[in-house]
Amino acid sequence: MVNILFVCLGNICRSPMAEFVMKKLVKDKGLENHFTIASAATSYEESGNPVYPPARAKLAEHGISCKDKYAVRVSPDDYDKYDYIVVMDRSNLRNITRIVGEDRDDKIRLLMSYTGANSDVADPWYTGDFEATWQDVWAGCNALLEKILSEKF
Ligand code: 4NP
Repeated sequence: MVNILFVCLGNICRSPMAEFVMKKLVKDKGLENHFTIASAATSYEESGNPVYPPARAKLAEHGISCKDKYAVRVSPDDYDKYDYIVVMDRSNLRNITRIVGEDRDDKIRLLMSYTGANSDVADPWYTGDFEATWQDVWAGCNALLEKILSEKF
């Protein structure tokens, strides 16, 4: 199994978008039984809340459902449960370290780093630009899946 956890601040916009994009990419390859894919927040701010409506709408534009997803916070056990812990921005990197401790197995990475960029996923929270987030998430998840497929399948 390949276990992937996507992480952002609230788990209602960026990381659920990445979770459901990645689930779609993996399913399109017929590999869904080989992957566990989830997402979580570094804060409790939105715990229990569904995916933010504009993020849900952006996924729906692409035929992707995120129904039944409710925000959860990262748990300290998640570090050992997942092989890839993929954060959306640099502040997530700092915050997750406070929850799981140091990245002893070198498994925490910025999503955009898989595309060769050293950048953050566009944060739609203040801009309302969910298309920019979609573009980043789509590119990042495709690059991450390519890397995993080249290494493990
Ligand atoms: P997300 O977006 O981290 O992409 O889920 C946000 C959600 C909530 C807040 C900030 C960003 N908030 O401040 O509550």
